[in-house]
Amino acid sequence: MLESRTRSAAAPDPTHPGGDPRFALIDRTLKRFRFQQDALIEVLHTAQEAFGFLEEDLLIYVARQLKLPLSWVYGVATFYHFFSLQPQGEHNCIICMGTACYVKRAAEIVAELQTAYGVEAGQTTPDGKLSITAARCLGSCGLAPVLIVDGQVLARETPETALAAVQQAIAASAATGNGHQSQVDTSDDEEGDQ
Ligand code: FES
Repeated sequence: MLESRTRSAAAPDPTHPGGDPRFALIDRTLKRFRFQQDALIEVLHTAQEAFGFLEEDLLIYVARQLKLPLSWVYGVATFYHFFSLQPQGEHNCIICMGTACYVKRAAEIVAELQTAYGVEAGQTTPDGKLSITAARCLGSCGLAPVLIVDGQVLARETPETALAAVQQAIAASAATGNGHQSQVDTSDDEEGDQ
């Protein structure tokens, strides 16, 4: 858990592009970290949680607030698999394509999902139900091949079990009528940031 920090007395620019109140969530994180540039990843996490993905306006806003080059912010956002610059589906499946996973059929898992859902890694199904992402090493090579379905890490998967896991996740939300998308509290809860 990250430590709470004292809020900065002078925020750089309080303007919210388009007046979207979700920018207040980003501001809270910026203040919590006193606009420190090394808080970039945490700020991007908050931005993605609030908006679902990191569209260009968000990257520009974060770069301005942290006084970082946009190219740097863009580079970080595209380097890490958990950031997305495109709208994500209701469910997501991240397949590790690192060396350890690759030699244990990770590419076959990707192919199985592509065949089943008609989209390639990096894409979302037309109905918005599923996003498939290929990632670099997820840091659990001993469990290869590894994938993450809706935030749940699955180990030693096969193409068949991986497809079943994704199908199960989609079916479960259909049965309950609940999607997987996270709920974000946009209320102005500044006390929680102290
Ligand atoms: S290569 Fe897949 S977890 Fe490391």
